[in-house]
Amino acid sequence: MTSGKEDQKITILPMRKKDISAVAAIIASHDNFDGKCSEYYYREYFTSTKRVKSQLEQNFVAVDKNTGAVVGVCGFAPDKYMTPGIIWLTWFYLKKNYRGKGIGRRLLIYTINIIRKLKIKKIYLDTSSHLKYARSIKVYKKCGFNIEGTFVDYYGKGESMIIMSLDMKKKS
Ligand SMILES: CC(C)(COP(=O)(O)OP(=O)(O)OC[C@H]1O[C@@H](n2cnc3c(N)ncnc32)[C@H](O)[C@@H]1OP(=O)(O)O)[C@@H](O)C(=O)NCCC(=O)NCCS
Repeated sequence: MTSGKEDQKITILPMRKKDISAVAAIIASHDNFDGKCSEYYYREYFTSTKRVKSQLEQNFVAVDKNTGAVVGVCGFAPDKYMTPGIIWLTWFYLKKNYRGKGIGRRLLIYTINIIRKLKIKKIYLDTSSHLKYARSIKVYKKCGFNIEGTFVDYYGKGESMIIMSLDMKKKS
């Protein structure tokens, strides 16, 4: 079910430095290693003085209007070569009790619409073939992403990396 009453209780805001712990905790509750990696990324993103701030790298949080609590995150960045016209989605996670209510889809569409203004040709993302990411693949497909390829056993025997993309030139 999407766009229910729950969805209306959520607002989407740019992520701030003070949101790092809440966001990393949401990600860690799904996968501890990812929680640590994401915290490292966000700390570097918000605190490094060497990092050049760019419109091509942004993060957003879903916030519960009633409690003010951060309940989800989505973001994007260029690849490490800064390939023109290419963007990769970064962490996309919701707190467990907020999933399956259309909030993730809304957050993803919001993020795609921000990317659309940046004259990007193609958005890529990587996810996993593990069952616990099955819902994410459905959400990505609903938002127009297609599977481009699979790196078999990338994360370990039986767990592949799945690369998906969204062609921004095609009408959505
Ligand atoms: C992926 C995630 C952010 C999606 O957010 P969400 O709010 O749960 O997703 P939505 O409620 O917007 O669902 C959108 C679509 O996903 C599918 N979906 C939703 N709930 C589902 C469920 N319980 N089982 C299977 N599919 C489901 C449906 O196709 C739904 O579309 P529909 O409402 O038109 O049927 C969230 O589920 C999550 O945090 N998952 C764990 C972390 C993760 O996998 N992150 C992605 C890493 S690459």
